[in-house]
Amino acid sequence: MSDAHDVARARALLRDARRLLVFTGAGVSAESGVPTFRGAGGLWKSFRAEELATPAAFARDPRLVWEWYAWRRTLVAACAPNAAHVAIARHAAAHPGTTVVTQNVDGLHQRAAADVAAHARGAAPVVALHGTLFGERCVRWPACPTRGALAPAVDASSVDTLPRCPACGALLRPDIVWFGEPLDPADLDAAFDAARGADACLVVGTSAVVQPAASVAAAAAHAGAPLVEVNAEATPLSALATVTLRGRAAEVVPAVLDRGRT
Ligand code: OAD
Repeated sequence: MSDAHDVARARALLRDARRLLVFTGAGVSAESGVPTFRGAGGLWKSFRAEELATPAAFARDPRLVWEWYAWRRTLVAACAPNAAHVAIARHAAAHPGTTVVTQNVDGLHQRAAADVAAHARGAAPVVALHGTLFGERCVRWPACPTRGALAPAVDASSVDTLPRCPACGALLRPDIVWFGEPLDPADLDAAFDAARGADACLVVGTSAVVQPAASVAAAAAHAGAPLVEVNAEATPLSALATVTLRGRAAEVVPAVLDRGRT
């Protein structure tokens, strides 16, 4: 766990923020049991991103890509939000100026927010820059507008059993932003607006190497917001951080968010 003095500094910075940006990556879900992409045990050590997370990969072998995403769905469905997701959701519900922007597709921030909303004053929306593991869209999207949670159970045993668009019959694909694809402009605008308007930024568990998402927290820092980084390791954002806290998200995040006012 990080130095007590740094934790206290981080708490003070975050407590005083009226417009807080919380920006997260796979590390925030590590203690829930969701594998990260990079680093020890990261998915990209065992799987090749270019064979699984690109439009070209899906065009070449949609069955293989769906098999991988169906496996990840099963894995994530068995996981629950951890103390970091819960602390962020509680803070966001209690402080309406908070914006949560995540690169994660696992839905754990949204599940924590829904749990908090069920017991408190309402949930803050989560900007999911890279889409959702539990949604699909037509492979012809946006020409075909079909998009949503249409195929909760995917049989990836053959191409013939893959889910198809109810409107046009083309294949459905995971509603994930793959490498080489643009992010949703509305999500990007929401993220960068929150970054430019933030008076503090809490960054949790991202290697900060995938663009343009990685630039969101940097934009907050460049606009003058003090940045608190929670990560097991140093990242390219560490140099911009006012406070760096080396440790596990599920331990450090509840310690720095203002429990007294939530
Ligand atoms: P990465 O896997 O690249 O980075 C995870 C970060 O979390 C690393 O910096 C770790 O040091 C840190 N970390 C690991 N365990 C932690 C813990 N328990 N507490 C705190 N930090 C911890 O994940 P992202 O930065 O989210 O994109 O990756 C960005 C994007 O690359 C993902 O959204 C995904 C991936 O390819 C798509 O799939 C489109």
